Amino acid sequence: MNKNQGSKKAVVLSGIQPSGHLTLGNYLGALKNWIALQEQYDCHYALVDLHTITARQDPKQLRERCYEFLALYIACGLDPSKNVLFVQSHVPAHARLAWVLNCYTMVGELNRMTQFKDKSQKNANNINAGLYDYPVLMAADILLYQTRFVPVGEDQKQHLELARDVALRFNKLYGDVFQVPEPMIPRVGARIMGLQDPTSKMSKSDGSEANALYLLDPLEVMDRKFRRAVTDSGAEVRYSEDKPGVANLMSILSAITGESFVAIEARFAGQGYGVFKAGVAEVVIETLRPVQARYREIREDEPGLHRILKDGAERAAARAAPVLRRVHEVLGFIPE
Ligand code: TYM
Repeated sequence: MNKNQGSKKAVVLSGIQPSGHLTLGNYLGALKNWIALQEQYDCHYALVDLHTITARQDPKQLRERCYEFLALYIACGLDPSKNVLFVQSHVPAHARLAWVLNCYTMVGELNRMTQFKDKSQKNANNINAGLYDYPVLMAADILLYQTRFVPVGEDQKQHLELARDVALRFNKLYGDVFQVPEPMIPRVGARIMGLQDPTSKMSKSDGSEANALYLLDPLEVMDRKFRRAVTDSGAEVRYSEDKPGVANLMSILSAITGESFVAIEARFAGQGYGVFKAGVAEVVIETLRPVQARYREIREDEPGLHRILKDGAERAAARAAPVLRRVHEVLGFIPE
């Protein structure tokens, strides 16, 4: 079977959970890369709503966030005519393949997933089977499109390894059914840390508002968050593991401007943290100012956004159908 069904460009797929609000971590770890890939690859980007219900969601907010995320993707530069932008629940093949892959994933493998352990700890009263099975649905998202590259942040590496292992296992049993995917993790910005607690990852579902920087934060709030970001008792702008706050701010700056850490150190030499933090704030604000302006315009046209999702779901479903059919065929299911 031609793994890249009717397309010569290599397939890229990624997803973000429409839970919470999009953070600078999501932007630098994933979204910024998605935009860079859109010319060269055959890209598919999903709003993974099925994944979000592994934690309780407010239905109204969930719907709102899907539109918000889509409008932000477009405002950041993702072109709906060049990328397949869709909602996971609109393409039933995801859940159908996930069931099959469940039967080719070992409980021992899922037990090792660090995100499951973290999330169970944070949500001790709702450790549901979906949360446990989450990486299998993610493997289905990826394998359904014969995906070659998966642009994600560092925290998704283990899930990607699992998707690769499941694909290899399935292929060993049934022939060359799935493309084995590879992660695409940015060199800088793959793990943006909290502004208040630079020893833990910045996260959409962060309890503390000041810890995460949201792409839609008012610009003056962004400025304040950076100025109050935790650094250390020193004054020297230097990249070092024992200076996690400073290192994080340097990573943010470097990921946006492309400057090396050495160049950043030279630029801020002898200037102290106040000037440095204001410099980082300015770069982030000037990157997001035009994004926010475009966002407001795009978000207003909800019927237009809905059309993009409808079209995206049709295109995604058409790409997924032959892969699911092939999977069912090798398993011995009677063709529909
Ligand atoms: P999610 O929604 O937690 O995060 C979306 C993307 O943002 C990256 N990211 C970060 N990068 C840098 N620094 C951070 N602090 C940071 N926080 C998040 C994540 O690595 C991710 O790339 N399981 C996935 C969603 C998913 C998916 C998929 C991804 C479902 N199916 C298929 C790729 C392919 C998740 O929860 O991402």
